[in-house]
Amino acid sequence: MTDQTSPKPATPAGQADRSADAAPVPRKLFIKTYGCQMNVYDSERMAEVLGAEGYTRTDTVEDADMVLLNTCHIREKASEKLYSDLGRLKPAKLAKPDLKIGVAGCVAQAEGGEILRRMPLVDLVVGPQSYHRLPAMMRAEGQVVDTDFPAEDKFDHLPERRALRGPTAFLTVQEGCDKFCAFCVVPYTRGAEVSRPPERLLAEARDLVSRGVREITLLGQNVNAYHGGGWGLARLLRELAGIEGLERLRYTTSHPNDMEDDLIAAHGDLPQLMPYLHLPVQSGSDRILKAMNRKHTAADYLRLVERIRAVRPDILLSSDFIVGFPGETDADFEATMDLIAAIGYGAAFSFKYSARPGTPAAEKTPVAPDIADERLQRLQSLVTQQQRAAQEAMVGREVSVLYEKPGRLPGQMVGKSDHLHAVHVTDPAGKVGDLVRVRVTASSTNSLAAERLD
Ligand code: 5AD
Ligand code: SF4
Repeated sequence: MTDQTSPKPATPAGQADRSADAAPVPRKLFIKTYGCQMNVYDSERMAEVLGAEGYTRTDTVEDADMVLLNTCHIREKASEKLYSDLGRLKPAKLAKPDLKIGVAGCVAQAEGGEILRRMPLVDLVVGPQSYHRLPAMMRAEGQVVDTDFPAEDKFDHLPERRALRGPTAFLTVQEGCDKFCAFCVVPYTRGAEVSRPPERLLAEARDLVSRGVREITLLGQNVNAYHGGGWGLARLLRELAGIEGLERLRYTTSHPNDMEDDLIAAHGDLPQLMPYLHLPVQSGSDRILKAMNRKHTAADYLRLVERIRAVRPDILLSSDFIVGFPGETDADFEATMDLIAAIGYGAAFSFKYSARPGTPAAEKTPVAPDIADERLQRLQSLVTQQQRAAQEAMVGREVSVLYEKPGRLPGQMVGKSDHLHAVHVTDPAGKVGDLVRVRVTASSTNSLAAERLD
């Protein structure tokens, strides 16, 4: 729904005002990104849209002519952070009344004009499907809200990709979710599942590769439900793997029920597809999975993992877990701990359940916070042990690393291994973008150390 607080934008939404074709005035943009990788991607694209308007990025609010907060609504804490950060922007706005303050992302989508009522210093509120209209919104007088799910595709209106963050890039292939897990706001904030056409994605990927990208992570709220132009994700991955110079592919986030046979097979026979898979299960209790509307059991998930490991035995798995979902008993929680013990994760993200307005679970009585806290701690310490064990198992092994940046020590490069471990390599001749073979020599809390082999 478009809720335009008066007055209307100077140009119709969606049409960039090209009357000012003269060189844009140089201005500075500060963006803060909260939440998931989709938001990281969206922030980059918003910077590109505003780049065409003369904005370059800055890391300091004081330098900025525009501050954009790209928000997350998934848990209450993430959502409330917006309001505390907006409060902190008051002095900057007072010092520089021309400073534009924009709220983007999922809180913008969910709360729309309410944000302006709570925080009058905000100039514009833009949802995740309408940020291609930012230039027109910026020219509007007064406060503007656009949280439309427009009929036009934002991707058709975004400028050519220009800003790159080095040899790795995200590529959004799918947005939205039709699963309606009982705790989750995504189907409401990001809307129904929409897949981008494969030919567009291949063109965008070729362009990224021609500008030095060697690893692409395909993004989607439900990425393995991709079904653009009649292709599934497996077909898309196979076609992408044919692009010369594209050495690595990853995708995230997946739903267990969409792991089709051909996608599992791709993990076995597509060398570019990296051996790391984020496959959230949320809980190990069938009763809770049912209440969450996950439509799979713990046994289904274990069988699925067995099938994936059968084709790619060294794959590392990660998951999301929610503890303290309404009705979760000690026995339910123990079932989650048993499932974690049975799988052996390489990493995992775990959260205390947070009731989100408008979701079915929000109607139910929550678990007492101290019980949920204790469960979260126990779960996290088990996952940490597994994460350390997975890292330590790499010591002595040969892996490949794609250098993303120089390390803190002289002659050191930092990159990710195939298994997504951060690796520090002593390599004075190394350059960002090199894909090298290394031998892992040590494991520390959050990274590996390695020596270069070739
Ligand atoms: N409370 C806690 N965690 C949540 N997640 C999604 N919604 C909620 C919620 N209401 C978690 C899920 C999801 C991850 C992105 O965030 O584990 O996979
Ligand atoms: Fe949310 Fe993921 Fe469930 Fe979709 S599949 S409703 S995004 S948790």
